[in-house]
Amino acid sequence: MRHPSLIPFSPMRHPALIPLSHDHHHGLALALRCRKQALGQLKPMGLKGLKERAQELREFFTNNLVRHFRAEENALFPKLRQLVPESAALLDQLARDHQQLREAIARLESDSGLAKLVFDLGDLLERHIRKEERELFPLFEQQLGETEAEAVGNEIKEILGARPVSP
Ligand SMILES: [Fe+2]
Ligand SMILES: [Fe+2]
Repeated sequence: MRHPSLIPFSPMRHPALIPLSHDHHHGLALALRCRKQALGQLKPMGLKGLKERAQELREFFTNNLVRHFRAEENALFPKLRQLVPESAALLDQLARDHQQLREAIARLESDSGLAKLVFDLGDLLERHIRKEERELFPLFEQQLGETEAEAVGNEIKEILGARPVSP
């Protein structure tokens, strides 16, 4: 059975946000694997396993997160900033998380301190996703009218449409 903590989105999630929630679902599963790997709870143990997770993180970043962050930063965040002024502090924090995640991914090439880096990346990715699912997405659903929500949804789809077909 799937662990309930891996199911990030409510069944009432607005259709405009579902493609992002789909990525979040995969991101949470990866974040959990990263933390387990760093704690020595996944085989193969040691550097070999850590390198596997580092590779998985890089692939997820290239295949999903680059476009995902772009969709959030270029479509979702600006619209919320414009229509829901009280979301400003949360949006600033989420944008800082993106930057921190980008920087941490770039550091994965190095073997030294890899366990801590993989753990911290898993931890940050999970906290970031939960903040979006629990705080940001409900704001979107409560505060945006249907026409606005649909327009943002179309922009998100367009940006994510550049996604390469997964193998
Ligand atoms: Fe995000
Ligand atoms: Fe996200």
